[in-house]
Amino acid sequence: MSTQQAEPESQEAPEDPEMKGAESPAAEQQKGGGMVDEQAEKEAELEGETVHIKVFRYDPEVEGKQEPRFDDFHVPFTKGMTVLDSVMYARDEYDSSLTFRHSCRQAVCGSDAFFVNGKQRLGCKTQISDLEQPVRIEPLPHQEVVKDLVVDMDHFYDQMHAVEPYFQDEDTPETDALEEQRQSPENREKIKMSSRCIWCGACMSSCNIAAGDNEYLGPAAINKAYKFAMDDREGEEIKEHRLRILEQEHGVWRCQTQFSCTEVCPKDIPLTEHIQELKREAVKKNLKFW
Ligand code: SF4
Ligand code: FES
Repeated sequence: MSTQQAEPESQEAPEDPEMKGAESPAAEQQKGGGMVDEQAEKEAELEGETVHIKVFRYDPEVEGKQEPRFDDFHVPFTKGMTVLDSVMYARDEYDSSLTFRHSCRQAVCGSDAFFVNGKQRLGCKTQISDLEQPVRIEPLPHQEVVKDLVVDMDHFYDQMHAVEPYFQDEDTPETDALEEQRQSPENREKIKMSSRCIWCGACMSSCNIAAGDNEYLGPAAINKAYKFAMDDREGEEIKEHRLRILEQEHGVWRCQTQFSCTEVCPKDIPLTEHIQELKREAVKKNLKFW
């Protein structure tokens, strides 16, 4: 394919692809306003109503309750109610044995990833008014259930630790001579998205490959490795070491670019893109020219 460009016929500034399809600030504002209106409308419809939630229950320790089941709760709707708010209400007002994890309530701690209406979502980031009723709330699939909505995260954490998720630099001076490790703004920009991970496990739970291969590192761990492998402050030797971990049998090559992890990540991390980039890095590392 020729790379020669035809001379432009007019001298008008070429269209900026970044701006293509972009709307004027006024139009953007109107669009944003439209979304706010839509949300307000949905909430107004639910005002004074109760929300029907169906919550997965399983308690292996209580005799007669070992069989998984769904319990129905009708929770009074309040403005801005999230899925987490609804299960908290059910626990506080109807059944104190209902068990789930939560902490920050602002999409930071990553402890309340559930399977809501057939999709991995963060409870505190999901508005009840956006969901079809009854809202079905289950534990993350492909993880062992400990109790009700609580799953065993040990395997997920093991995979995260397997990629050595900490900064390593062969030139780092002795502790008493440590200096600030500066990073360029461009490099910071490159790894910015990967550093948003809150270890919620939603991506791993959505991944078909991880479901079938228990040793697969999984999207979250690979993304964590990406954060360090792309950090310019780490040396070439460490980068090679990281790529060796990633290109092993259960590493990046197991990914079949199904994008399910990217679709469910509550922090909008482009996981599949990062995995693809690491595959390219691994190929480059192994290319030899004689
Ligand atoms: S990559 Fe996204 S979905 Fe996966 S653990 Fe991190 S925040 Fe959660
Ligand atoms: S409660 Fe912390 S992320 Fe939802």
